[in-house]
Amino acid sequence: MGPGDGTANSAGADQQQNVPELAPIAALRRDFIWGVSTSSFQIEGATREDGRGPSVWDTYCQTGQVANHDTGDVACDHYHRYLEDIALMQRLGVQAYRFSVAWPRVLPQGRGTPNEPGLAFYDRLIDAILAAGIEPWLCLYHWDLPQALDDLGGWTTRDCVGWFTDYAALVAGRYGDRVKRFATFNEPSIFTLFGYGFGGGVRDTSGADTLHRAIHHVNLSHGAAVDAVRARVPSSSIGAIHNYQPCLPSTPVDAQAANCCDTYWNRAFPDPQCHGSYPHLMQAAMEPHMQAGDLARIHRPVDWFGLNHYGPTYVKADPGSRLGFGFGEKPPGIPQTPIGWPIDPNAFRDTLLTVAKSYGLPIYVLENGLGDHDKPDETGAVFDDVRIAYLRDYIGAMNDAASAGADIRGYFVWSLLDNFEWDSGYSVRFGLTYVDYPSQRRIPKASFRWYGNLIKAARDR
Ligand code: FCB
Repeated sequence: MGPGDGTANSAGADQQQNVPELAPIAALRRDFIWGVSTSSFQIEGATREDGRGPSVWDTYCQTGQVANHDTGDVACDHYHRYLEDIALMQRLGVQAYRFSVAWPRVLPQGRGTPNEPGLAFYDRLIDAILAAGIEPWLCLYHWDLPQALDDLGGWTTRDCVGWFTDYAALVAGRYGDRVKRFATFNEPSIFTLFGYGFGGGVRDTSGADTLHRAIHHVNLSHGAAVDAVRARVPSSSIGAIHNYQPCLPSTPVDAQAANCCDTYWNRAFPDPQCHGSYPHLMQAAMEPHMQAGDLARIHRPVDWFGLNHYGPTYVKADPGSRLGFGFGEKPPGIPQTPIGWPIDPNAFRDTLLTVAKSYGLPIYVLENGLGDHDKPDETGAVFDDVRIAYLRDYIGAMNDAASAGADIRGYFVWSLLDNFEWDSGYSVRFGLTYVDYPSQRRIPKASFRWYGNLIKAARDR
């Protein structure tokens, strides 16, 4: 596939003559896996089609809190255009594609009778991914909780453990003949902190106690799902996906707050899942929600650590907030992405080394990328040099971590396509491919070609 094949726009950026320098990769394994990631709510659209039930994100979009009042109703229309998107991945040369199943598409009420048309969509998707020679990596939960379950208490009720286990069993039983890579949760710390911890967010009801309950129930759901998937797909390779990053004090007086942030943001899930204990700082708060044997239920064997990383967080003490910390100012002079996220490849290298040492598992980087407000130029091409520079520096930092001994097995760019970026709606773009939302035309950006060249160079070694 290539220019003129009709699978996507092939003008401009894709024919760029001065190809920018690739990233250093010499320390990465020969069998390193290069991929891209997406998630169901962010790309699928078709939210009311073929029997899908509403998710908490459909509800949240109705509250007017998403930029420009954007919704996931159409998103990238991937539900109908998945073949075109798989052709893009094939052209890019990725070996693996991480996507998520929308729980309310396969179980509209979150439990009970499965929705056959919803299940059949993922059959078609998985078959087409495999036919393209790409390995499917299936994430069970990327934040689109069925609204019907949230109405019953969602993650704050222990009942969710049974709901999630049944859902995991359904998905593993249906697709496990073709899918071997399963992730339980995407960034559990982010959806619990933003949903229950900081105030605002999707489900802000009753403060810190709700937060600790939700953290514990998500951890229990993870452990139970690992067992449910393993029982149905003995040859599967299972992990969870964590957002892990240095939590740095904005000023010296914020050191304690930064430590608290590190506990909740980075360690509240991997510590019990991989070591069988909660971090010291949060143990007392967890106690009231725990039953005998719970830590063993959470601490089930996993095969890898999924790492999502973008940059460090700067933290300030905030006695008025539920956990005593908030987001602080970035020190002057810190490089930033066009949407204001810190750029710090050394922090990525350090995080990889920390995770390798703390958890002793093979690491797959399952998200990394840069958000911008990309626009096509007058020729229709999208030149995103700033994204290329970011990816080059971060992949170089990963190479440094590998040469310092971290066992890193794969790297997935967030994201294949521009998509629905949560509270920012469609105003922020992370794709290697530009999506012209009114026409749904896909335009590979310069970074698409750059990443394709990198993958080719890495595989030709
Ligand atoms: C991560 C999310 C992903 C995407 C990127 C930019 O935290 O997992 O869905 O929004 O950030």
